[in-house]
Amino acid sequence: MAPSSAPLLYQPPTELVGKKIHDVFPPDFADYFLNSIQQALLTKKTVKLEYSLPIGDQEVWFEASLATMSENTVVCVARDISERKHMEDQLRQQTENLAQTLQELKQTQAQIIQAEKMSSLGQLVAGVAHEINNPVNFIHGNLSHLEEYTQDLLRIIRHQQQQSGNESEFQALCQEIDLDYIEEDAPRILSSMKVGTQRIRQIVLSLRTFSRMDEAEFKPVDIHESIDSTLMVLQHRLQEKTKLPAIQVIKNYGTLPLVECYGGQLNQVFMNILGNAIDALEEGRRQDSVAVASLRASAEGDSTPDERETIENGQLRMHNLASGLSTPMITIRTSAIDSGWVKIAIADNGIGMSEQIQKQVFNPFFTTKPVGKGTGMGMSISYQIVTETHAGKLECQSTPAEGTEFIITIPIQH
Ligand SMILES: Nc1ncnc2c1ncn2[C@@H]1O[C@H](COP(=O)(O)OP(=O)(O)O)[C@@H](O)[C@H]1O
Ligand SMILES: [Mg+2]
Repeated sequence: MAPSSAPLLYQPPTELVGKKIHDVFPPDFADYFLNSIQQALLTKKTVKLEYSLPIGDQEVWFEASLATMSENTVVCVARDISERKHMEDQLRQQTENLAQTLQELKQTQAQIIQAEKMSSLGQLVAGVAHEINNPVNFIHGNLSHLEEYTQDLLRIIRHQQQQSGNESEFQALCQEIDLDYIEEDAPRILSSMKVGTQRIRQIVLSLRTFSRMDEAEFKPVDIHESIDSTLMVLQHRLQEKTKLPAIQVIKNYGTLPLVECYGGQLNQVFMNILGNAIDALEEGRRQDSVAVASLRASAEGDSTPDERETIENGQLRMHNLASGLSTPMITIRTSAIDSGWVKIAIADNGIGMSEQIQKQVFNPFFTTKPVGKGTGMGMSISYQIVTETHAGKLECQSTPAEGTEFIITIPIQH
């Protein structure tokens, strides 16, 4: 009865004669074995079994065949298959390892592509900033001289005007060109030009901050400057569009020390989070307008009392919806928490995320956006930059139809 490879667990065959299956085997296996014997007797077919038994301090696997010999006799032949089982396990483990490696390779490849894109964007931005910097500086620098020269010229003209008689040609000329108006308007033009060049200089500065892309060491960074420069690069997406009012950005900046970090990489995180927030706000506005349009459609046409009720309901819902159509908004809050850490929270009142989506938001290649728009890499790369490179935390809180908040916590020093 006992398998030959297990002489230590089970008694010698002579001892087994006359014993019941339950006296020899562990109860669970004995039940299973008896069932199989019954099945063999009933069907008169060979039944195959695979099972393991504790033998010594090991779990030994067997493969057995139960063949019916007569109405109440079966013969069981069992064979030790532990070796095969072991190899199967190894094979399964190797397959799992390979699948894991493949996934990691795919992720690395996508990261390299993304890093490459960000790096070329950085180089492009840096190049543009550099090219604009010189001309704008000389325009800005020369405006003060121009202002001075204009004042001088006007003084000469006024002086000349006083010297010449009322009916002189010079007076007529002054009248013709409307000297009074020029005197009034020229300083205004010059000062608005100064405001303009000042603004371009600021933009150039932001672009330069933004393009600190591949700095390969930890450096003290002004986080607010980084966020502002990223907003600057995204400015065109924040402005009013045909179907979307301008997105309001509320900055709730606390007092932050300089933070030791990879400036360019952190910009990439801000870029990803802010980009997603804008996407969520645009999608929210699109969903609202679809809802309103369907309400409008159902409210049209001749109305029976029944329909009138539907329309009234619809109007009520439209009213509720309209009051819910709040301004698309991004709120950025920063604060220093205790002495060693800073917190940056970026919230939007866009479409939000279901729990199901929230669970996957940091997974590589997870996207809910149409092909060509989403890559699903933004948040997984951001997660890696924050948690691995900067030993920080990146958390996400979200409520469907209300909005989303990403919270970055990073140490001030490394
Ligand atoms: N602010 C947000 N509001 C709503 N959903 C978001 C937000 N940020 C991220 N998500 C969800 O997480 C997914 C993954 O984001 P991400 O990794 O940046 O990839 P992608 O933007 O290319 O889809 C998005 O497709 C979206 O479903
Ligand atoms: Mg994204």
